[in-house]
Amino acid sequence: MSPKSSNFAGEMKIGVFDSGYGGLTILEKIRQRLPEYDYLYLGDNARAPYGTRSFEVIYEYTLQAVEWLQAQGCRLIILACNTASAKALRTIQQHDIDPNKVRVLGVIRPTVEYVIANGAKHIGIMATPGTVSSNSYVMELEKVESSALVISQVACPMWVPLIEAGEHNSDGADYFVKKYISELVQKDDQLDTIILGCTHYPLLLPKISAEVAQRLSDCKVVCQGDIVAASLKDYLGRHPEIASDLSHGGTCQYITTESAAKFRDSASIFLSEPITASHIEF
Ligand code: DGL
Repeated sequence: MSPKSSNFAGEMKIGVFDSGYGGLTILEKIRQRLPEYDYLYLGDNARAPYGTRSFEVIYEYTLQAVEWLQAQGCRLIILACNTASAKALRTIQQHDIDPNKVRVLGVIRPTVEYVIANGAKHIGIMATPGTVSSNSYVMELEKVESSALVISQVACPMWVPLIEAGEHNSDGADYFVKKYISELVQKDDQLDTIILGCTHYPLLLPKISAEVAQRLSDCKVVCQGDIVAASLKDYLGRHPEIASDLSHGGTCQYITTESAAKFRDSASIFLSEPITASHIEF
């Protein structure tokens, strides 16, 4: 064990951060695969969506969240948010944290590695305006795969607000699902893989899958939860010095910058189990 990381042996949590409810789609899969650890979920619901905000603001908000989670005793923090992973992760890793005290991981790289390992060639990326404009997926895909890929991106600015407002099962959501998938298919009607590059989007999966099946034959729709969970398990296997710092109570606490009651009610629906939440303010 590294002497630098042994101060906290067995005491620390895994933090999971998102702008709002979307990271719950990642947390749920992580907890299914790694139920033994203690988790602290932070949703910055009061300031969501992030996807339409500037680089500076997304970075500032994400750094606040990382610092807060670290202060609560997180040894490992997952940015379960593509927008934060695209806009803030690298700067935070390089300038703002001491990796001997905390590690911060994102969701884009594992997703890219997964789709390439599964033979994707014509790839569609559906994400927030922030993630699309960062070009992070395109750059990561081209780093991982040297042979020619056909990559198309569509920004879906209305999907996160619909989900944060609890309107993802409404008829209004149908309109925006059709609109953005139609834009993507107009760019490439040979798509074999669509990456849902925002952790909120699995909440629209039934509508998205139905629309994709009508328009494309044999196109996979990729959600990130299982991919990130598998990648985290692999990471902890490769970093026993971090795994051994983590506590094994099997608990999960939920924190929101919005109303705790609102978060509890909405999150309980997404997670299909009752939860309690606490409120903090930045
Ligand atoms: N779940 C976040 C993501 O993956 C949503 C971003 C937002 O708040 O717009 O990108």
